[in-house]
Amino acid sequence: MRAFQLTAAQTTELREVPEPQPGPGEVLVQVGAAGACHSDLHLMQAPAEALSAFPVPFTLGHENAGWVHALGAGVGGFEQGEPVAIYGILACGRCRACLAGRDNECRNVPPSGIGIGRDGGMAPFLSVPARQLIPIGDLDVAQAAPLTDAGLTPYHAIAINRDALTPGSTCVVIGIGGLGHMAIQILAATTAARIIAVDVEQRHLALARDIGAHETVRSGGQAQAEIRDLVGPAPGGADVVLDFVCLDETLALGAAVVSTGGRLTLVGLGGGTLPLQVGIAPTIPFQVSLEIPFWGTRAELAEVIALARAGLIFAHIERFSLTDARTAYERLEHGEIDGRAVVVP
Ligand SMILES: NC(=O)c1ccc[n+]([C@@H]2O[C@H](COP(=O)([O-])OP(=O)(O)OC[C@H]3O[C@@H](n4cnc5c(N)ncnc54)[C@H](O)[C@@H]3O)[C@@H](O)[C@H]2O)c1
Ligand SMILES: [Zn+2]
Ligand SMILES: [Zn+2]
Repeated sequence: MRAFQLTAAQTTELREVPEPQPGPGEVLVQVGAAGACHSDLHLMQAPAEALSAFPVPFTLGHENAGWVHALGAGVGGFEQGEPVAIYGILACGRCRACLAGRDNECRNVPPSGIGIGRDGGMAPFLSVPARQLIPIGDLDVAQAAPLTDAGLTPYHAIAINRDALTPGSTCVVIGIGGLGHMAIQILAATTAARIIAVDVEQRHLALARDIGAHETVRSGGQAQAEIRDLVGPAPGGADVVLDFVCLDETLALGAAVVSTGGRLTLVGLGGGTLPLQVGIAPTIPFQVSLEIPFWGTRAELAEVIALARAGLIFAHIERFSLTDARTAYERLEHGEIDGRAVVVP
């Protein structure tokens, strides 16, 4: 079969690989769709040293859904053809965090996943431990695939801030791409917060307005003043800032508009730096909590799928064939994807 792989630092190839066989405890899944995440671009652009934790070659694609195709030894409870989403985090399952259901905080396995250092879904077939599968019922697999990360990661980032997202609160969402467009819908569906969407691309702001943002602000020199007009002066401000970019400029924007007592939640892996100085005039307001969430829990993925099945959130997807996987990533890099690109092998 053909697979879209990261074969060396800064090198991707669509190449012929053996079809995987399900090992003991594994399920062979026929891939219905694999989402193209910006994290893949970070991996594809990383220098060789940064890839030491993610041995190449491996097939990209960590947002996957499809149909059960064959069961490995010792696996039961699934029927052939059953539609499933794949929970992407691989964790030890035994540490205190895993035992509490927080695989995204595993104390033994460094952050990695299916499609991140191990073969992912940009291929016709994928073999994964049975524990990774979540049934999706009648949900379209192309819808379900982005939910496993572009849906789950913002859902988790919102869940850890739920106590601050009370009626009357304001949430600033920076970066309305794959994750951000789901964040807006999850905020609208599960909170009464006022949503201010921020992006560099007007078309992404237009989508934000269509799916529930109350206000939109173009990123750049005027953004801080425009958001301040909406949230009022310090020491007040935004109750929660969700940064799905995390470049120097977005980190500075978040710190400049967050309220005293607010939350700065840094989800993007943009590599930016946020200077932190604590003193009589701190660079981040007093009582602010800083969070760096990673992906989400299996239970939260089940909740995201339930929200989608209830029609309350909807991934805006653009489909690409496996042959066009590289084109999907090129367009993602240039901000030309509205919502999420999914590869349909
Ligand atoms: N922490 C985690 O667990 C986790 C999980 C998944 C993805 N991520 C990271 O989240 C980020 C977003 O991923 P994605 O797949 O949604 O990316 P994306 O490319 O689909 O979306 C990024 C959005 O940010 C916008 N943008 C770019 N520069 C901006 C700026 N200066 N100001 C405002 N907006 C700007 C783009 O126009 C785009 O709409 C990536 O860095 C990705 O690696 C983190
Ligand atoms: Zn991702
Ligand atoms: Zn663990």
